[in-house]
Amino acid sequence: MINVVDGSPAAGGAVSVFDGVDLERLTQQVPTPFYAYSASAIRERISGLQHALHGLDALICYAVKANSNLAILQLMRDAGVGADTVSGGELWRCLNAGMPPERIVFSGVGKTAEEMAAALRAGILHLNVESFEELELLQQVAQAQDTVAHVAVRINPDVDAHTHEKISTGKAENKFGVSIDEARRWFAQQAAFPQVRLDGLHVHIGSQILSVEPFRQALQRVAAFWRELAVGGHALGSIDVGGGLGVCYRAGHDHPVAPADYVGAIREALAGFNGQILLEPGRYLVAEAGVLLTRVIRVKHGDERRFLVLDAAMNDLIRPSMYDAWHDIVPVSHGDRAPVTYDIVGPVCETGDTFARGRELPECRAGELVMIKSAGAYGSSMASTYNSRPLTAEVLLDRGRYAIIRRRQRLESMVTDELAADHWQTA
Ligand code: LLP
Repeated sequence: MINVVDGSPAAGGAVSVFDGVDLERLTQQVPTPFYAYSASAIRERISGLQHALHGLDALICYAVKANSNLAILQLMRDAGVGADTVSGGELWRCLNAGMPPERIVFSGVGKTAEEMAAALRAGILHLNVESFEELELLQQVAQAQDTVAHVAVRINPDVDAHTHEKISTGKAENKFGVSIDEARRWFAQQAAFPQVRLDGLHVHIGSQILSVEPFRQALQRVAAFWRELAVGGHALGSIDVGGGLGVCYRAGHDHPVAPADYVGAIREALAGFNGQILLEPGRYLVAEAGVLLTRVIRVKHGDERRFLVLDAAMNDLIRPSMYDAWHDIVPVSHGDRAPVTYDIVGPVCETGDTFARGRELPECRAGELVMIKSAGAYGSSMASTYNSRPLTAEVLLDRGRYAIIRRRQRLESMVTDELAADHWQTA
């Protein structure tokens, strides 16, 4: 387990130094709320996974949606990691961050012709295709460019990942991928798609998975199909095992799968596979390396409950409102204080703007600096400007130094594309 916060147990204690940077002092330079990410912790996660993959022909394609800041993408690039993208915007970000196209894959059920064309022009490694209709469109787009599109077929293995239903993707009822029966028909018809080369399989069953079993089941189904294809003379260049590795959001409660066990399941299922193995972790690489720093605006004594009103809100970190997700929340400063039970909320005008209900914290005062932990994934990348709250700043910390990797959005840039209705036209 990476100790992302110096001088502190990962167990939710109070801390003041993160990757060598004093957080109280940092907030004198950067006003709250903002995200702080530890570059050291991200690198440690990457090298831990790379170490577990030792001896395999494997490429980690970081799932950009988890945290798509350009500096994070550059860090991934420099560590030899590629990218799993799901939109033209993510592809554009990766190319802008200098990610080599041969390390980029493109997934998603709704790729448009424009996105396919951009991916082919960039020369990415392959597209993960999720429906027959998409395959037909890709054939046309590749033909128009007089090129050949490399494709991994996304298999829906009908496996229950035992995670939150909104982030479960590998059951037959989910919109993702195709059944093995359907994929079998595609491979049989390969000749009908001369501009498309079906040379990979892809599977991704969901996110925040805390047991190796669902991975094992899905991989075994995919492996049986790969062997069947091989017997039929259809050699595959790659198998993409997706992402989904869970992390610890609640100290002492969440017990993530160790990378060695996860990779052990991959080794076992894909033993004898000669092609490249791709992995698409998002959360695992960045979640625990990030915190959302926020100050208590006020402590409100309600009739029934005591509220800690923070300067961060659901627009900055939507996970608790959207998935009832738990994030450990701790005051940054040390000190022995009596525990008090709070509802920890933001200033947005919705009851759902609640980070935690009935949470015990050392007694907090107005102005106090508080840290929402494990916020490096699906935090800033899911943020919005709801209630006209500008997007937060993001800061990268690295062994005692810090760099601002996104400025807090200015009010002017929040409205920069909005226009007064004084140019009426007819369609
Ligand atoms: N590959 C594909 C095709 C995916 O759809 C995803 C995530 C990943 C990889 C990366 O999964 P990870 O390793 O991060 O679990 N917003 C939600 C999570 C949604 C995940 C969507 N797909 C949350 O905050 O929990």
